[in-house]
Amino acid sequence: MSEIIEIETKRLFLRQWKESDFELFAVMNSDEKVMEFFPAPLSRSESDERAIICQTLIAEKGWGFWALEEKSSGRFIGFTGLHTPSDDLPFSPCVEIGWRLSPDYWGKGFVTEAAKASLNVAFTQLKLDEIVSFTVKDNFRSLAVMERLGMSKQPSNFDHPALPEGHKLRKHSWYKIKQSQWSASAV
Ligand SMILES: CC(C)(COP(=O)(O)OP(=O)(O)OC[C@H]1O[C@@H](n2cnc3c(N)ncnc32)[C@H](O)[C@@H]1OP(=O)(O)O)[C@@H](O)C(=O)NCCC(=O)NCCS
Repeated sequence: MSEIIEIETKRLFLRQWKESDFELFAVMNSDEKVMEFFPAPLSRSESDERAIICQTLIAEKGWGFWALEEKSSGRFIGFTGLHTPSDDLPFSPCVEIGWRLSPDYWGKGFVTEAAKASLNVAFTQLKLDEIVSFTVKDNFRSLAVMERLGMSKQPSNFDHPALPEGHKLRKHSWYKIKQSQWSASAV
């Protein structure tokens, strides 16, 4: 167990998950638009299972995929944060930054705001050297977040090992950012 890191930004709290988040998370995870770049929408129990994993990892490590709460409404709107992927990726071992947002909140810069704060924790508090991010090569909204964060696009795509050969979501693009790049951009 580590001390739990929670973050406040201008419009958001990045915090430990509460059981009251699970219902809205399940609504998001059952939405075909949100899950367009995942193998399938999730059932309530699959969604709860993922929320519990996020909650448990934050309790154990102090950081993870934080629940996002909109400060003005107190509403749970998705997650953003840091995670150590368990899949054997071409750039493993690594720490990734990732996100998922309720579509009602797309187009307002919430994930960029949360991700900048997460990178700040990664580099200044956790003293990590590098953060990666990856997604299906056609997930342009997610790739645009990586670009807005100043992450560098890596020249070669890769096949995600969790998906079978020939699967339409298998080809992924990936980005990375070094602590030195982040410090330089923050000046
Ligand atoms: C990927 C995802 C999180 C991106 O959401 P998003 O709302 O586009 O991203 P942001 O919150 O950073 O907002 C950026 C948008 O808000 C606009 N915006 C408004 N105010 C802004 C601000 N202060 N700062 C940055 N952008 C702002 C930007 O112009 C951009 O709009 P555009 O899409 O019209 O260009 C979202 O599409 C999602 O949850 N997708 C499903 C899950 C998923 O695919 N996750 C990644 C899998 S690895």
